[in-house]
Amino acid sequence: MSTIKVKAEGIVKTFGATQVLDGVDISVNGGEVVVVLGPSGSGKTTLLRSLNLLETPDSGTLEVCGYRLDMGARGGFDRAARQRVAALRRRTAMVFQSFNLFPHMTALQNVIEGLISVKKVPKAEALACGEALLGQVGLADKRDSYPASLSGGQKQRVAIARGLAMDPEVIFFDEPTSALDPELRDEVLGVMRKLADDGMTMLVVTHEIRFAREAADRVIFMENGRVLTDCAKEVFFGDRAGLADIGERIERFLGRL
Ligand SMILES: Nc1ncnc2c1ncn2[C@@H]1O[C@H](COP(=O)(O)OP(=O)(O)O)[C@@H](O)[C@H]1O
Ligand SMILES: [Mg+2]
Repeated sequence: MSTIKVKAEGIVKTFGATQVLDGVDISVNGGEVVVVLGPSGSGKTTLLRSLNLLETPDSGTLEVCGYRLDMGARGGFDRAARQRVAALRRRTAMVFQSFNLFPHMTALQNVIEGLISVKKVPKAEALACGEALLGQVGLADKRDSYPASLSGGQKQRVAIARGLAMDPEVIFFDEPTSALDPELRDEVLGVMRKLADDGMTMLVVTHEIRFAREAADRVIFMENGRVLTDCAKEVFFGDRAGLADIGERIERFLGRL
């Protein structure tokens, strides 16, 4: 039996006069790896940021890790809803394109920061956990290095270890390899592949088609703030019979990558 970890229904988000999300429905089951593809500007980042309320949608409903939030209430979230936002954030992790590490902290300090400040884990325990996680992403020897002395691929692996430190139920990745030179991408994708193989629930915005082909269970294709198709990877990368005219749109998108 698989539980639903993420469910978004009718998510609408407008910035000024621009409607960025136009009624998006998505779901992610426990243990599933869902890849979101789509052209630049289609709303992928805004969707991910909406799922842990880094952006507040105008309307729609979210249920993340069992915490339900109805958008659009006058006056914003009430106290109980704000507590659910805080709770769902503690159960999810976000990995950004730009790493977002603290420059004045070592790799190890970056990894354990949330454990100490958010989860109030005792220092010795946090250090042991952080060292184990750095080992898991292949960076045990970089524990005392500052971000400035790490490669992009190493920085992103520290960021993943930092996310894992919170023991999340689901990880959101927003183009985790897009800022990296091609030769550094594989080391990050390798870590992500391993997480997927270990059963982590992952929602991954990426242009890495090989990762999608190999690691995804499902592919969501977005355009103009809408989900054009949401299907098994075998269908998306197969003959696309049954996707009708959308198949041709996907063909063009993949051809351009
Ligand atoms: N904070 C913001 N203010 C105004 N417009 C924004 C903001 N964030 C995103 N947008 C606009 O929303 C659209 C979708 O952006 P985004 O979600 O980043 O798409 P993607 O990640 O698919 O490239 C773009 O047109 C972008 O300019
Ligand atoms: Mg984006």
